[in-house]
Amino acid sequence: MLVAVLSVKGSPGVTTFSVALAARWPSATRTLLLEADPSGGDVGTRFSLASTPGLMSLAAAARRSDDPALLWQHAQALPGGLPVVAAPPDADRARAALSALSDPATGAGVVRTAASVPDTAVIVDCGRIGAESPAMPIVRVADAMVLLSRAHADDLAHLARQLPVIGRWTAHPVMLLVGEGYSAAEVARELGVLPLGRVPDDPRGAAVLCGRPSALRWGRRGPAHSALGQVAHKVAKALAEHAPRSAPPRQGPAENRPIPILRAVPGVPTNSVSANGLRLAPPPSPPNRKTTSRGGQAS
Ligand SMILES: Nc1ncnc2c1ncn2[C@@H]1O[C@H](COP(=O)(O)OP(=O)(O)O)[C@@H](O)[C@H]1O
Ligand SMILES: [Mg+2]
Repeated sequence: MLVAVLSVKGSPGVTTFSVALAARWPSATRTLLLEADPSGGDVGTRFSLASTPGLMSLAAAARRSDDPALLWQHAQALPGGLPVVAAPPDADRARAALSALSDPATGAGVVRTAASVPDTAVIVDCGRIGAESPAMPIVRVADAMVLLSRAHADDLAHLARQLPVIGRWTAHPVMLLVGEGYSAAEVARELGVLPLGRVPDDPRGAAVLCGRPSALRWGRRGPAHSALGQVAHKVAKALAEHAPRSAPPRQGPAENRPIPILRAVPGVPTNSVSANGLRLAPPPSPPNRKTTSRGGQAS
């Protein structure tokens, strides 16, 4: 299974959550974390990994072979043994490696092939993404996309504008809110899509996932006891349940696929999302209900 983790605005904790998701993926599955952030990697620095092997050596090798074992051959181990293919911290080098890896001729192919092996999960940290991102070819062939967004009005307004497009990137997109802010029910009402859950603000859990000294231990399967680790495990289980039995690469342009399924809310039409900003989805009743945008926040 191939899972792309990303944001469209800010730095809501994509790398931290990607590490958590990979570390807490159901244990029957062989799991690997691929850092594919075109703005440069953080995992290597955070965990004092060697500069190679990693994304650069993988991209070079992928020109010559599409062996599903390649990803594992270019991985290093995080504490607890989680294999990670780390991106170089330099953005230019990360972009160059990703562009090579996403070449349609060799392509996201090697990532897709590795993730299609049964009982395998490849979790990809795509960073902050846009249509021009060199990580986009991986998103487009992913089985699931996890979109992280802070739950404040500005982040959600930004997201609302892009949802109709984002929903077409991947067959199974899900949204997670991060930290304090609007409740899932409010977001569902405002955006017309139901968040799968909320990533808690958990500095101690995040510290261990970022390689910083912490009272929490990493352990064999990751930081199981942090609030962040527990949510990651629930999300991983929910995603794994949707794992395709065999995952053929999808054909054809994404635009031809059926539209947004960012967990549409029952009773709220998916086309109720405003194309130009955050607004309330049409209220079912009563007709004179207040529809002004809120400035405040709720949790
Ligand atoms: N859920 C969280 N709770 C508290 N701090 C977090 C959380 N997720 C990430 N952080 C912290 O925020 C900072 C940025 O996280 P990172 O995962 O690198 O964000 P991104 O990849 O979106 O840029 C790091 O210092 C990390 O420890
Ligand atoms: Mg990051």
